[in-house]
Parts: sequence; structure tokens; C-alpha cells
Amino acid sequence: MEIVAPSTEQLLADFESKINAEIKIEPRDWMPEEYRQNLIRQMSQHAHSEVIGMQPEGNWITRAPSLRSKKILLAKIQDEGGHGLYLYSAAETLGVSREQFIQALHEGKAKYASVFNYPALNWADMGAIGWLVDGAAITNQVSLQRTSYGPYSRAMVKICKEESFHQRQGYEIMWRMMEGTKDQQQMAQDALNRWWWPALMMFGPHDSDSPHSTLAMKWKIKRESNDQLREKFINKTIPQAELIGLKVPDQNLQLLEDETYKHGDINWDEFWAVVKGNGPCNQQRLEHHIRAHKEGAWVRETAIASAKKHNI
Ligand code: 3HC
Repeated sequence: MEIVAPSTEQLLADFESKINAEIKIEPRDWMPEEYRQNLIRQMSQHAHSEVIGMQPEGNWITRAPSLRSKKILLAKIQDEGGHGLYLYSAAETLGVSREQFIQALHEGKAKYASVFNYPALNWADMGAIGWLVDGAAITNQVSLQRTSYGPYSRAMVKICKEESFHQRQGYEIMWRMMEGTKDQQQMAQDALNRWWWPALMMFGPHDSDSPHSTLAMKWKIKRESNDQLREKFINKTIPQAELIGLKVPDQNLQLLEDETYKHGDINWDEFWAVVKGNGPCNQQRLEHHIRAHKEGAWVRETAIASAKKHNI
């Protein structure tokens, strides 16, 4: 009996019925090329963000104000490196190697979150980054736990467990500074002023300007839209700011009847300028990553040689 290979239409129909039935798509499953390419792009850029995001905070390990705060910051930064590894490993299941991902980053062909191209000027920035940047990341990543691609979903479950600690330690830094001297309170407010809008930009352009969102929502890579997640983050974070006496730097912010907030206009010119490489720290971040990757080559080579020798 001749076995007839299923048509592409049939394969697509089977794929979409799995998506609609909330069955995870696994690496060996058939998937539309656009689905694969969108995941390769998003997951590798997510991984790049985790690793590049270690730089702003790494600068403050030696300047931490106490042994306790140094230990917390060290643990957090180490977590971020691990998140990058989970995500590169999950992205590699789509048929692209880590070396290829890193090369795309180094050649400027792959992005990472624009928020990491801003400088961390003082200790209050460690609080604002943990509270706002990790807070935004959690809002996004909790939603991504339900993404349709199995390895990505499972990586998110593991990462979210650690992210909540990141957000809390940042908020604690801000809380303690707001209970401190006038100077410390001003440092905390200044850090909020500088990190608030770049944190809102982490959710991406408005849905109407998001070229990837239509497919990403149809095939459940994304479970909530850029704007939905941004609003979720804003509605959660503003009461936290007010609780400790901080004021969100948005003079057009409105509290609506349903007790949600309508934020002022985001400066998308600034967003795209930073995305395109013209932020305060873009060049520094990439040069540091390229240098560290070169300096770490011997570690990778030794690990690979050892794995081969022991047939691991
Ligand atoms: N920074 C840089 N580029 C961004 C961006 C941002 N904040 N938001 C969007 N972009 C880029 C997109 O990559 C895309 O460009 P590309 O086609 O060259 O990749 C373009 O702008 C259009 O945006 P879309 O909304 O159409 O793109 P997506 O559908 O990919 O949505 C996203 C953007 C919501 C960021 C989505 O990619 C996503 O959810 N990614 C996973 C989460 C993530 O990457 N978070 C980054 C921070 S990780 C982190 O903070 C670690 C924490 O522990 C500190």
C-alpha cells in the first residue's frame, strides 16, 4: 500500500488544532517556518537580554553598601546568567547553534532589550532595575509560561520562580532608601524618573505598531499583547510606588473610573533610537560582551575537550 505524505495544508491544520487544544509544540513536531523563525528571533533575543542585562548591575557588585546587599546582588546576577543559558538551550532546539546566536548579536543582526542600554548611575539604580526592569520582565514572563512552544514554556516556569526574588530585592532597596535621609529619598526618586519610561518600553511598541504580534498571538507564542502586559505592569507598580512615597514621572497619568491607569505618551523616537544603537550605552554593552566572549573562549574549549574525553 502506497503511503501518501500529508500535504502542507493537512500539516498546518494538524498544527493549528494542537495550538487550539493547548497541546505544546515540541522540537520534533512539524511547525510552519514562520512559527520557527519567530521563535528563533524572540527566544534568542530574550537570551541575549538576560546576559547583557548582567552588565549594568555587575558594575555595582564591588560598590554594594553592605555584605548583605552584595550577596543579594551577586545571587541575582548569577540567576540572570542561568536564565540566559536556559533560553539559549531552549532556542537551540529550533535548529540554530549558540555560536550562531552569539555571532548574530556581535554583528548587530540580533537585538536585546533596549532598557539595558541605559547607565546605572548609583545604588538606587540597583533598586529601580530590580523593581521595575525585573518587575516588567516578570509580567511578560508569567504570561510566556503559557506560550505554545514547549521548551520556551518550561524555561519560563523555571525563570519566573527566580524573577519574583529579583523584583522584591529591588523594591526593598527602594523602600529602605525612602525610609532614609532626604538625599537617599532624592536618589530613589531620581532613579525612578530615569528607569520608568525605559521599563515601559520593554513591552515593545503599541500593538498597532507590532509587526510580529499578529502571528505571535494567532499561534499563541504570545498569550497577551504588548499593550495588555504594559498596562498590567503599570496598574501593579504605581500603587507600590505610592506606598513608599515615590511619584511616577508621568504628568499625564490618569486614574480611570475602574481604578486602572492611562499612561502618558511614550517617547517612541527615543525607543527606536536606542533600539537602532544610539542609546547611552549600546557600544559599551556590545564591546564588553565581545571582549568577555573572547576572554572566555579557553573555558568553553576546555569544557568541550573534557566532555569529549569523558564521552559526556
Ligand atoms: N528592546 C529592543 N527591541 C525591541 C523591544 C525592546 N524592548 N521591544 C520590541 N523590540 C523589537 C522587536 O525585537 C522587533 O524587532 P525584530 O523584528 O528585529 O526582532 C521589533 O521591535 C518589533 O516589535 P514586536 O512587538 O513586533 O516584536 P515581538 O513580537 O518580539 O514583541 C517583546 C517584543 C514583547 C519584547 C517580545 O519579543 C517578548 O516578549 N520577548 C520575550 C521577553 C524579553 O525578551 N524580555 C526582555 C527582557 S529580559 C529581562 O529583562 C531579564 C530580566 O531578568 C532582567
